[in-house]
Amino acid sequence: MKIVKYQFQQHGDSRGELVSLEEKNDIPFKIKRVYYMYKTAEGVRRGFHAHKSLKQIMICVHGSCKVLLDNGKEKKIIYMETPYEGLYVPNNYWREMYDFSDDAVLMVLASEIYNEEDYIRDYDEFLKYVGEKK
Ligand code: TYD
Repeated sequence: MKIVKYQFQQHGDSRGELVSLEEKNDIPFKIKRVYYMYKTAEGVRRGFHAHKSLKQIMICVHGSCKVLLDNGKEKKIIYMETPYEGLYVPNNYWREMYDFSDDAVLMVLASEIYNEEDYIRDYDEFLKYVGEKK
């Protein structure tokens, strides 16, 4: 299971850092939606779903958290703490996000607008779905 992390260019100077993300140049899909999670309560674990076609880039723009990715065969835990790193989450990957620091802001760039039909929220159904794809 290959984990793809994008290292974004930082435009830093004595004033501080700046990261700019352009579709096609920095992000491998057309960005149709951006959302972010913050003020995540202690001990919360969220996600618990896969997408049939949607692809994402997750960026922890502040603070830290962990992301568990699972392709139905293998699981990997990715530590997120760098605002200039983007974790690519392909379709058909189960994800869980947890261990959010108090100040964590997890931003997600998504290839599709919100569509509940694209979600697989049941883990057994996910295993069946990815199993049938092989
Ligand atoms: P939810 O899917 O529970 O988030 P997570 O997968 O991170 O646990 O989403 C929380 C709520 O926000 C739910 O009522 C659906 C809504 N929502 C939108 O309206 N648009 C979105 O883009 C997302 C991701 C969620």
